[in-house]
Amino acid sequence: MKVRASAPTKVTLFGEHAVVYGFPALVMAIQKRVEVTASKTSDGVVRIELPELSSIGLKLEIRNGEVEIKKVQNALKHASYVVETIKELQKRANQSCGAKIMVKSKLPAGVGLGTSAAVIEAVGLAYSTLLGITMDKKEIAQLAKHVETLVQGKSSGMDASIISQGGIGLFRLENETPVLQRLEAKEIPIVIAYIKKVIPTGEAVARVKAIFEKHKDITETIFEAICAITEKATRKILENDLNSLGELMNLNHGLLCSLGVSNLRLEQLIHLARDAGALGSKITGAGFGGSIVCLLKNEESAKNVCQVLKPFCDGVFLAKRDNIGAQVQIIGS
Ligand code: MEV
Repeated sequence: MKVRASAPTKVTLFGEHAVVYGFPALVMAIQKRVEVTASKTSDGVVRIELPELSSIGLKLEIRNGEVEIKKVQNALKHASYVVETIKELQKRANQSCGAKIMVKSKLPAGVGLGTSAAVIEAVGLAYSTLLGITMDKKEIAQLAKHVETLVQGKSSGMDASIISQGGIGLFRLENETPVLQRLEAKEIPIVIAYIKKVIPTGEAVARVKAIFEKHKDITETIFEAICAITEKATRKILENDLNSLGELMNLNHGLLCSLGVSNLRLEQLIHLARDAGALGSKITGAGFGGSIVCLLKNEESAKNVCQVLKPFCDGVFLAKRDNIGAQVQIIGS
């Protein structure tokens, strides 16, 4: 049997970091999909290839003709999402099967756009199909949250939820349970630019937590303000009021800065985008590097902002909403 599975990545439009403390976040799936092909093999061995993702974080040095691997943490970490997904499915099914699995990604890992959850969901759907198990969207999202927690320590389940469902929605943790309310909103012109992250998401969340613990009264007020912005942005997106949405993005960015998650390169991108005509721009994801999201008034203006940002980042693109979510199909017997 041969299968093809894929899952979109995602962008957080409003509410990151506050979402960890039970406040809502507005999140959207994007059409930069992780693609997986998998076929059953008879020798019982699972072989995995990640041609793009596995090179992330790999640092090599050649001294006197000898190759020394200096840093493989991120590479191994990304492969761990795949390995833990396979192991978890084998455990749940109480059976195993040999497979050849190829994972391809349109986006690099670790830039705050949900590649981890997308990898888990696409690999999970592909391998479970080979095992003869059918997983619905809720089950695949639960698997992704579980594997993310195993590999990175903690996960709100936000990426897992929107990536399984696709579309745009308001996410929140209700008594630690992920709840996604999908919204019927028009497509909005969005540009995303990314640079390499300085620290991983888990550490970014821990740094914000340290500020929260030290200045609880003030930080709580900041999270409440972010919550008010996210709720207003939800109404404005339904009204397709782009000017207000842009202003709300700038307000959200200011509050993220106050939590200490911005840096010089991100600020440069944020202000270049605004100067080039973005209605609003903000960090998206955990910060300390990673991605920014900009709102534009139309596609032409979006293309212009892409050109302006290009020399200052590692990648920039016009983001289209994905309305399908994670999916799998059998392509051969
Ligand atoms: C990371 O993309 C967003 C954070 O809010 C963490 C999370 O939601 O798990 C910083």
